[in-house]
Amino acid sequence: MDFEHLEVLPLHKYPHYLMPCCELINNEWPRSEKARIMSLEASCDELPTSLILINKEKLLCGHCKLTPIPIMPNSCFLETVVIRKSMRGKRLGTFLMQKVEDYCKNVLKLETIHLSTKGQEDFYAKLGYEVCAPVSIYGSSINYISLRNSSNKTTSVPIRNIDNSVATIDKNTAPPPPPMPKPQNIINTLQSNRTYMFKYLI
Ligand SMILES: CC(C)(COP(=O)(O)OP(=O)(O)OC[C@H]1O[C@@H](n2cnc3c(N)ncnc32)[C@H](O)[C@@H]1OP(=O)(O)O)[C@@H](O)C(=O)NCCC(=O)NCCS
Repeated sequence: MDFEHLEVLPLHKYPHYLMPCCELINNEWPRSEKARIMSLEASCDELPTSLILINKEKLLCGHCKLTPIPIMPNSCFLETVVIRKSMRGKRLGTFLMQKVEDYCKNVLKLETIHLSTKGQEDFYAKLGYEVCAPVSIYGSSINYISLRNSSNKTTSVPIRNIDNSVATIDKNTAPPPPPMPKPQNIINTLQSNRTYMFKYLI
């Protein structure tokens, strides 16, 4: 594989890849074309951003989407990571993830990336992602605290009990009100059968 000529580009700056991108993603996760296109058209310089992997022949080889996490402005949620079926196992996924991390760190100035997966845990673990508590892109995160790391940057990490369950924090305050009911038409990122992972962008 000729990695030198591979490019990772923001989809909204190359709109002629919109339809091929829709086909690539729908080939993996079928959904109405209209809904998919609308989601891809939301890509912008801020978040959400769809990044596409293009090879020397200008063929679309992969895609991923970065979504904001309202409660964590220094992070984003990585979704819809996909490499063209015929091109898998050639380290294109690794290349895409490295470029996406560079983009998050250097262009978006983010400090961490969060994601959820079911079945691709080993792929992400090889790239340095660690299992963490679930994160919602619609509401608040569950039991996260703010810490300062060695470079004095603020970041959020889950608090865990010794049995690896998420700890509760006694702040000597009244318990928070119950969460608002979830809108039925929104597919929340909080799905208990998925593994949530994160990585510091250092
Ligand atoms: C997951 C995906 C993006 C990986 O892309 P890829 O180009 O095939 O991956 P790479 O060739 O860069 O693989 C890097 C390493 O991860 C491993 N790996 C890749 N997919 C894996 C999987 N599903 N399970 C375990 N290991 C995996 C590879 O064997 C390789 O290991 P090595 O470094 O020991 O050789 C690709 O398989 C894909 O598009 N899958 C379908 C969509 C999907 O499930 N996306 C993830 C949504 S959370």
